[in-house]
Amino acid sequence: MKLKTWLTVAATALTVFAAQAQEMSNDEIAERIKPLGQVHVAGAAAQGSAAAAGGAKSGEDVYNSACVACHAAGVLGAPKLQNAADWQPRLDDRGLDGVWQNALNGINAMPPRGTCGNCSDDEIKAAIEYMIEGI
Ligand code: HEC
Repeated sequence: MKLKTWLTVAATALTVFAAQAQEMSNDEIAERIKPLGQVHVAGAAAQGSAAAAGGAKSGEDVYNSACVACHAAGVLGAPKLQNAADWQPRLDDRGLDGVWQNALNGINAMPPRGTCGNCSDDEIKAAIEYMIEGI
């Protein structure tokens, strides 16, 4: 009888202890995950503020990442970088807005947006302005 009582108390104590241990480790896990969550939030905030601060790619950056493959050497008849003979007739014919629209929509072997799917309209325009700079 005494032994049974003792066993019951011991079992209860063990159960309570186990529950506490479980709770503690959950808290610990939460504590360990916390910095990771904060890094994510900080990253999102940084991206947001970059966009808010006008963090658009420069024309030169867009050109070098998306347009250079064809427009440096004139692949498939692409007008070459800052080459007046290639660009002037196009600009005389349709103006900056006209060639901009063709760059956005694609024309003949020129793919839409010059393959830069995540470039904004303005970033494509900036790349064109870079390509015709000084002509
Ligand atoms: C796969 C090759 C290729 C890539 C990449 C490419 N272009 Fe072109 N682009 C061409 C070709 C070819 C033409 C000439 C098309 C024609 O007039 O027949 C052209 C023409 C143009 C024109 C003149 C359009 C007109 O109305 O005369 C503009 C502007 C232009 N590209 C901008 C860009 C920009 C900006 C990029 C990068 C974001 C880019 N291109 C990337 C091949 C390319």
